[in-house]
Amino acid sequence: MIKQAIIPLAGLGTRMLPLTSVTPKELLPINGKPNLEYILDECLKAGIKQFIFIISKNKESIKKYFYNDTFYKKIIRKKKDKRIENEFRKIKKYRSMIKFVYQNKPKGTGDAVLKCNKLIKSNFFLMLLPDDLIIKKNCTKEMIELHKQKKGSIIATKKVPKKTVSRWGILSLKNKKKNYFQITNVEEKPKIKDAKSNYAIIGRYILPKKIMKEIKRLKPGHGKEIHITDAIKNLIHKNENFYGNIFKGKYLDCGTINGYINSGIEISKE
Ligand code: G1P
Repeated sequence: MIKQAIIPLAGLGTRMLPLTSVTPKELLPINGKPNLEYILDECLKAGIKQFIFIISKNKESIKKYFYNDTFYKKIIRKKKDKRIENEFRKIKKYRSMIKFVYQNKPKGTGDAVLKCNKLIKSNFFLMLLPDDLIIKKNCTKEMIELHKQKKGSIIATKKVPKKTVSRWGILSLKNKKKNYFQITNVEEKPKIKDAKSNYAIIGRYILPKKIMKEIKRLKPGHGKEIHITDAIKNLIHKNENFYGNIFKGKYLDCGTINGYINSGIEISKE
Protein backbone atom coordinates (compact mmCIF):
# COMPACT_ATOMS: atom_id res chain seq x y z
CA MET A 1 0.00 0.00 0.00
CA ILE A 2 2.80 2.44 0.90
CA LYS A 3 5.10 2.06 -2.09
CA GLN A 4 6.73 5.47 -2.56
CA ALA A 5 9.30 7.16 -0.30
CA ILE A 6 10.38 10.78 -0.54
CA ILE A 7 13.86 11.67 0.74
CA PRO A 8 14.80 15.37 0.97
CA LEU A 9 18.52 15.64 0.16
CA ALA A 10 18.93 19.28 -0.82
CA GLY A 11 20.01 20.58 2.62
CA LEU A 12 23.36 22.36 2.89
CA GLY A 13 24.73 20.25 5.73
CA THR A 14 26.20 23.28 7.52
CA ARG A 15 26.20 21.50 10.90
CA MET A 16 28.71 19.04 9.42
CA LEU A 17 31.17 21.50 7.84
CA PRO A 18 33.94 21.21 6.70
CA LEU A 19 33.19 17.53 5.86
CA THR A 20 30.17 18.53 3.79
CA SER A 21 31.96 21.21 1.77
CA VAL A 22 32.78 18.57 -0.88
CA THR A 23 30.84 15.44 0.16
CA PRO A 24 27.08 15.56 0.80
CA LYS A 25 26.42 14.44 4.36
CA GLU A 26 24.18 11.67 3.03
CA LEU A 27 27.18 10.05 1.33
CA LEU A 28 29.49 10.23 4.36
CA PRO A 29 30.29 6.67 5.37
CA ILE A 30 29.15 5.17 8.63
CA ASN A 31 31.02 1.96 9.29
CA GLY A 32 31.89 1.60 5.59
CA LYS A 33 28.47 2.40 4.11
CA PRO A 34 26.99 5.78 3.09
CA ASN A 35 24.48 7.15 5.58
CA LEU A 36 21.82 7.20 2.83
CA GLU A 37 22.12 3.46 2.17
CA TYR A 38 20.97 2.64 5.69
CA ILE A 39 17.76 4.52 4.93
CA LEU A 40 17.34 2.80 1.55
CA ASP A 41 17.93 -0.64 3.06
CA GLU A 42 15.32 0.01 5.75
CA CYS A 43 12.76 1.06 3.10
CA LEU A 44 13.53 -1.86 0.80
CA LYS A 45 12.97 -4.34 3.63
CA ALA A 46 9.66 -2.63 4.40
CA GLY A 47 8.39 -3.10 0.82
CA ILE A 48 9.03 0.36 -0.68
CA LYS A 49 9.22 0.20 -4.49
CA GLN A 50 10.13 3.74 -5.49
CA PHE A 51 12.32 6.50 -4.04
CA ILE A 52 12.00 10.16 -4.90
CA PHE A 53 15.23 11.99 -4.11
CA ILE A 54 15.04 15.75 -3.79
CA ILE A 55 18.51 17.04 -4.59
CA SER A 56 19.96 20.39 -5.70
CA LYS A 57 22.50 21.53 -8.27
CA ASN A 58 25.09 21.47 -5.47
CA LYS A 59 24.39 17.85 -4.67
CA GLU A 60 24.71 16.24 -8.10
CA SER A 61 27.29 13.87 -6.60
CA ILE A 62 24.38 11.96 -5.02
CA LYS A 63 23.08 11.28 -8.53
CA LYS A 64 26.58 10.42 -9.73
CA TYR A 65 26.92 7.84 -6.96
CA PHE A 66 24.12 5.88 -8.63
CA TYR A 67 25.11 6.62 -12.27
CA ASN A 68 28.83 5.82 -12.43
CA ASP A 69 28.54 2.85 -14.82
CA THR A 70 31.49 3.58 -17.11
CA PHE A 71 33.77 3.82 -14.10
CA TYR A 72 32.56 0.53 -12.60
CA LYS A 73 32.54 -1.37 -15.89
CA LYS A 74 36.17 -0.44 -16.58
CA ILE A 75 37.26 -1.58 -13.15
CA ILE A 76 35.22 -4.78 -13.19
CA ARG A 77 36.67 -5.68 -16.62
CA LYS A 78 40.22 -5.33 -15.25
CA LYS A 79 39.71 -6.74 -11.76
CA LYS A 80 37.43 -9.68 -11.20
CA ASP A 81 36.53 -8.53 -7.71
CA LYS A 82 33.34 -10.09 -6.35
CA ARG A 83 32.87 -7.39 -3.73
CA ILE A 84 32.95 -4.58 -6.30
CA GLU A 85 30.61 -6.52 -8.62
CA ASN A 86 28.11 -7.01 -5.80
CA GLU A 87 28.24 -3.37 -4.77
CA PHE A 88 27.71 -2.27 -8.39
CA ARG A 89 24.73 -4.62 -8.67
CA LYS A 90 23.24 -3.14 -5.53
CA ILE A 91 23.74 0.42 -6.76
CA LYS A 92 22.05 -0.46 -10.09
CA LYS A 93 19.12 -2.02 -8.27
CA TYR A 94 18.61 1.13 -6.21
CA ARG A 95 19.03 3.32 -9.29
CA SER A 96 16.16 1.58 -11.04
CA MET A 97 13.98 2.61 -8.10
CA ILE A 98 15.02 6.27 -7.85
CA LYS A 99 13.51 9.38 -9.44
CA PHE A 100 15.30 12.71 -8.97
CA VAL A 101 13.63 16.07 -8.50
CA TYR A 102 15.33 19.40 -7.78
CA GLN A 103 15.00 21.93 -4.98
CA ASN A 104 17.69 24.49 -5.72
CA LYS A 105 16.86 26.80 -2.81
CA PRO A 106 16.75 25.16 0.63
CA LYS A 107 13.30 26.45 1.55
CA GLY A 108 12.35 23.70 4.00
CA THR A 109 10.87 20.20 4.18
CA GLY A 110 7.39 21.34 3.13
CA ASP A 111 8.75 22.94 -0.03
CA ALA A 112 10.79 19.79 -0.74
CA VAL A 113 7.72 17.55 -0.44
CA LEU A 114 5.70 19.82 -2.72
CA LYS A 115 8.33 19.37 -5.45
CA CYS A 116 7.22 15.70 -5.61
CA ASN A 117 3.52 16.49 -6.05
CA LYS A 118 3.20 15.20 -9.62
CA LEU A 119 5.05 11.97 -8.88
CA ILE A 120 2.90 10.78 -5.97
CA LYS A 121 0.57 8.04 -7.17
CA SER A 122 -1.33 6.85 -4.07
CA ASN A 123 -3.29 8.48 -1.27
CA PHE A 124 -0.40 8.03 1.18
CA PHE A 125 3.38 8.14 0.86
CA LEU A 126 6.41 7.88 3.13
CA MET A 127 8.88 10.67 3.85
CA LEU A 128 12.23 10.09 5.57
CA LEU A 129 14.82 12.57 6.78
CA PRO A 130 18.27 11.09 6.11
CA ASP A 131 19.82 12.64 9.25
CA ASP A 132 17.77 10.26 11.35
CA LEU A 133 18.93 6.66 11.44
CA ILE A 134 16.97 4.07 13.37
CA ILE A 135 18.72 0.76 13.97
CA LYS A 136 17.88 -2.62 15.52
CA LYS A 137 14.17 -2.57 14.53
CA ASN A 138 12.76 -1.53 11.15
CA CYS A 139 10.84 1.67 11.95
CA THR A 140 9.36 2.02 8.44
CA LYS A 141 7.91 -1.50 8.72
CA GLU A 142 6.33 -0.69 12.10
CA MET A 143 4.81 2.51 10.70
CA ILE A 144 3.35 0.75 7.65
CA GLU A 145 1.76 -1.82 10.00
CA LEU A 146 0.19 0.92 12.12
CA HIS A 147 -1.00 2.72 9.00
CA LYS A 148 -2.70 -0.48 7.78
CA GLN A 149 -4.42 -0.82 11.12
CA LYS A 150 -5.47 2.82 11.58
CA LYS A 151 -5.83 3.95 7.95
CA GLY A 152 -4.44 7.35 8.98
CA SER A 153 -1.17 9.24 8.81
CA ILE A 154 1.75 8.15 11.01
CA ILE A 155 4.74 9.98 12.48
CA ALA A 156 7.71 8.27 14.13
CA THR A 157 8.22 9.54 17.65
CA LYS A 158 10.26 9.05 20.79
CA LYS A 159 10.49 10.69 24.19
CA VAL A 160 13.35 13.17 24.40
CA PRO A 161 14.78 14.97 27.47
CA LYS A 162 12.56 17.94 28.36
CA LYS A 163 15.47 20.37 28.10
CA THR A 164 15.99 19.50 24.38
CA VAL A 165 12.41 20.06 23.14
CA SER A 166 13.32 23.24 21.21
CA ARG A 167 15.41 21.13 18.83
CA TRP A 168 12.42 19.12 17.56
CA GLY A 169 8.86 19.11 16.30
CA ILE A 170 6.88 18.29 19.47
CA LEU A 171 3.58 16.38 19.56
CA SER A 172 0.47 16.88 21.71
CA LEU A 173 -1.32 13.59 22.30
CA LYS A 174 -4.34 11.69 23.57
CA ASN A 175 -5.40 8.02 23.92
CA LYS A 176 -1.87 6.78 24.49
CA LYS A 177 -1.37 3.04 24.07
CA LYS A 178 1.85 1.07 24.51
CA ASN A 179 3.27 1.72 21.04
CA TYR A 180 1.23 4.60 19.64
CA PHE A 181 -1.08 7.53 20.39
CA GLN A 182 -3.34 9.94 18.58
CA ILE A 183 -1.76 13.29 17.76
CA THR A 184 -3.85 16.34 18.64
CA ASN A 185 -1.35 19.05 17.71
CA VAL A 186 2.25 19.63 16.70
CA GLU A 187 4.64 22.55 17.24
CA GLU A 188 7.93 23.04 15.42
CA LYS A 189 10.78 23.67 17.91
CA PRO A 190 8.73 25.12 20.81
CA LYS A 191 10.23 26.92 23.80
CA ILE A 192 10.62 24.62 26.82
CA LYS A 193 7.82 26.37 28.68
CA ASP A 194 5.41 26.01 25.70
CA ALA A 195 6.08 22.33 24.92
CA LYS A 196 2.97 20.17 25.47
CA SER A 197 4.94 16.93 25.81
CA ASN A 198 8.42 15.59 25.25
CA TYR A 199 7.42 13.26 22.41
CA ALA A 200 9.54 14.48 19.49
CA ILE A 201 9.07 13.91 15.78
CA ILE A 202 11.86 11.70 14.42
CA GLY A 203 12.33 11.84 10.65
CA ARG A 204 9.82 9.27 9.35
CA TYR A 205 6.33 10.27 8.19
CA ILE A 206 3.46 8.51 6.40
CA LEU A 207 1.56 11.44 4.90
CA PRO A 208 -1.61 11.81 2.86
CA LYS A 209 -1.38 13.15 -0.68
CA LYS A 210 -3.82 15.88 0.29
CA ILE A 211 -1.02 17.49 2.32
CA MET A 212 0.23 18.98 -0.95
CA LYS A 213 -2.75 21.38 -0.99
CA GLU A 214 -2.02 22.40 2.60
CA ILE A 215 1.65 23.09 1.80
CA LYS A 216 0.64 25.37 -1.07
CA ARG A 217 -1.31 27.53 1.40
CA LEU A 218 1.55 27.85 3.93
CA LYS A 219 3.53 30.97 4.68
CA PRO A 220 7.16 30.52 5.82
CA GLY A 221 7.36 29.54 9.52
CA HIS A 222 10.21 28.86 11.97
CA GLY A 223 13.55 30.00 10.45
CA LYS A 224 11.62 31.43 7.43
CA GLU A 225 11.23 27.94 5.97
CA ILE A 226 8.14 26.09 4.73
CA HIS A 227 7.80 23.30 7.29
CA ILE A 228 6.00 20.03 6.74
CA THR A 229 5.16 20.32 10.48
CA ASP A 230 2.93 23.34 9.80
CA ALA A 231 1.03 21.56 7.01
CA ILE A 232 0.54 18.56 9.35
CA LYS A 233 -0.76 20.86 12.07
CA ASN A 234 -3.35 22.36 9.71
CA LEU A 235 -4.51 18.89 8.60
CA ILE A 236 -4.91 17.79 12.23
CA HIS A 237 -7.05 20.86 12.87
CA LYS A 238 -9.21 19.77 9.92
CA ASN A 239 -9.73 16.42 11.72
CA GLU A 240 -7.34 14.36 9.63
CA ASN A 241 -6.15 11.39 11.74
CA PHE A 242 -2.47 11.40 12.70
CA TYR A 243 -0.85 8.84 15.00
CA GLY A 244 2.52 8.87 16.72
CA ASN A 245 4.35 5.56 16.35
CA ILE A 246 6.59 5.11 19.42
CA PHE A 247 9.21 3.11 17.58
CA LYS A 248 11.14 0.28 19.19
CA GLY A 249 14.52 0.73 17.49
CA LYS A 250 17.46 2.85 18.54
CA TYR A 251 17.62 6.40 17.19
CA LEU A 252 20.91 7.83 15.91
CA ASP A 253 21.20 11.50 14.98
CA CYS A 254 23.58 11.78 12.04
CA GLY A 255 23.05 15.47 11.37
CA THR A 256 25.73 16.81 13.71
CA ILE A 257 29.41 15.96 14.06
CA ASN A 258 29.00 14.45 17.52
CA GLY A 259 25.93 12.48 16.44
CA TYR A 260 27.77 11.25 13.36
CA ILE A 261 30.74 10.04 15.39
CA ASN A 262 28.42 8.32 17.86
CA SER A 263 26.47 6.65 15.03
CA GLY A 264 29.67 5.05 13.77
CA ILE A 265 30.40 3.69 17.23
CA GLU A 266 26.85 2.36 17.76
CA ILE A 267 26.57 0.76 14.32
CA SER A 268 29.95 -0.93 14.62
CA LYS A 269 28.63 -2.69 17.74
CA GLU A 270 25.81 -4.31 15.70
C1 G1P B 1 13.31 18.30 11.35
C2 G1P B 1 11.83 18.55 11.62
C3 G1P B 1 11.52 18.37 13.10
C4 G1P B 1 11.95 16.97 13.54
C5 G1P B 1 13.43 16.74 13.19
C6 G1P B 1 13.81 15.30 13.44
O1 G1P B 1 14.10 19.29 11.97
O2 G1P B 1 11.51 19.88 11.19
O3 G1P B 1 10.15 18.54 13.32
O4 G1P B 1 11.75 16.81 14.92
O5 G1P B 1 13.67 17.01 11.81
O6 G1P B 1 15.17 15.10 13.20
P1 G1P B 1 15.65 19.56 11.57
O7 G1P B 1 16.44 18.40 12.11
O8 G1P B 1 15.70 19.64 10.08
O9 G1P B 1 16.02 20.86 12.24
